[in-house]
Amino acid sequence: MRIFNKITDIKAEIKKIKSSGRSVGLVPTMGFLHEGHMSLVRESVKNNDVTVVSIFVNPTQFGPTEDLAAYPRDFESDCALLEKNNADIIFYPEPSEMYGEGFCTKVELSGITEVLCGITRPVHFAGVATVVTKLFNIVNPDRAYFGSKDYQQLQVIKRMIKDLNMDVDVVGMPIIRENDGLALSSRNVYLKGDERTSALALSGSFKLVENLLREGVEDTKTIKEKVADFILSHPHTRIDYIETVHPETLVSVDSADTDFVMALAVYVGKARLIDNRYFEVHHV
Ligand code: PAJ
Repeated sequence: MRIFNKITDIKAEIKKIKSSGRSVGLVPTMGFLHEGHMSLVRESVKNNDVTVVSIFVNPTQFGPTEDLAAYPRDFESDCALLEKNNADIIFYPEPSEMYGEGFCTKVELSGITEVLCGITRPVHFAGVATVVTKLFNIVNPDRAYFGSKDYQQLQVIKRMIKDLNMDVDVVGMPIIRENDGLALSSRNVYLKGDERTSALALSGSFKLVENLLREGVEDTKTIKEKVADFILSHPHTRIDYIETVHPETLVSVDSADTDFVMALAVYVGKARLIDNRYFEVHHV
């Protein structure tokens, strides 16, 4: 496994790899890696000759009051996990390497970035789209792997690739969870004491929705109200949003008579957690 810090160095290496006809898979991350990230790495290793994992806590996707400085980091343990999972290359640049003096370009989408997390995090997706575009240009991957844990991010990246005619196949991967249902997240380290139990309210909500759908409830306003009551019955919780949206456009849906995604953002103590589930509506 090789580690690159400089853009020119990794570009030269990628050029060699590509000219020998080998395929490249990219897994973009912000580090503090866990089994969710590893599921993407393993899929990339399976389907590409070379797997590149980027580790970069991207400052431009954090708002001024968000947790950029506190974001957890552990490069050594990340390297050990990646080595064990057979990644080939780590790209680990400094912020000054990615955003040199005079940097003033932004990749910004409208609509799809103005709902869900985009409401409380207005600069977030432009930061994500810009850094992912840079990573695509640096690594020139055949395939790039993203988790559906960050469902809106995955749809934003797919839309951007389509709109800007980028030659990358995006592979969306399922959410990896703890045995009790909590979606793995680097931010779970913020959960203290019994907040960990309250955090189960997010994944627990989806069971509740399943039951409501089974009972024939279709009005999403009712569904969202019941989910809100359920979440708020757990201590330390504060709701950012509970939404039912179209799986691709992320436009709000009023009736659960077609496929939809339920997306949640909930503060549990200081941690802002997100989770989602795709509901397929079976017509009988
Ligand atoms: P990060 O939060 O480190 O996540 C990196 C990738 O791992 C994302 O595609 C995310 O969806 C995926 N992931 C995280 N938790 C997961 C889980 N429990 N199951 C499956 N996949 C999971 O997302 C980012 O970093 C950044 O925004 C980035 C795309 C790297 C741009 O800076």
